[in-house]
Amino acid sequence: MDGFEWNKVFMGIILALLVGKLSGKVADLLVNPNTDIANAYSHGDTTPEAVKGAGAPAPQDVLEPIEPLLAAANIAEGEKIAKKCLQCHSLEKGGANKIGPHLWEVVNRPIAHAEGFAYSSAAQDAGKAGKVWDYHNLNAFLHKPKEFLNGTKMAFIGVKNTKERADLIAYLRTLADSPAPLPK
Ligand code: HEC
Repeated sequence: MDGFEWNKVFMGIILALLVGKLSGKVADLLVNPNTDIANAYSHGDTTPEAVKGAGAPAPQDVLEPIEPLLAAANIAEGEKIAKKCLQCHSLEKGGANKIGPHLWEVVNRPIAHAEGFAYSSAAQDAGKAGKVWDYHNLNAFLHKPKEFLNGTKMAFIGVKNTKERADLIAYLRTLADSPAPLPK
């Protein structure tokens, strides 16, 4: 083979390498969006919020304070999250006790003090000990109900995401004739 022929072979190899690389890139582009969609749906939780919030921060298992987040919390979001509570709680003024006690004016209310509700002894004991539903206790309870109030009747998994809990509690705060002051 002369020099010219060698050049052709060489160019052929370069071309083959380039095409290989390019098709790898194209394959990536085609495959990756699909992988993302697959991930978004693989939580087992297919509520619209879960799908929409696929890019949101992961649920937090460690209890983080919500006090710094309350002033800027999203009350409209909190109202949406509170839909999870309606099955068991009424939220309006003069609302009845259901499976759980009514939650009107719950912020800063003494624990286990909704008139006429049969609380668990765990809740009654906490109330007798003088504990109130201040922001700190609401935050801990709504994060992991059974951990904060061992023996509670509230069969609810909790809201693990700190931002969501802050939004929820900021909304609960508005359920009052005169909402409790925000923490300093
Ligand atoms: C499956 C029913 C159920 C769901 C869902 C539920 N709760 Fe409860 N909740 C209860 C019951 C029952 C109690 C009484 C607990 C006890 O006596 O130990 C309670 C108690 C409470 C209390 C204490 C009230 C008091 O007077 O001491 C708060 C605060 C509360 N729930 C908030 C919420 C919020 C906020 C949500 C939604 C994010 C929610 N709960 C979802 C059943 C439920």
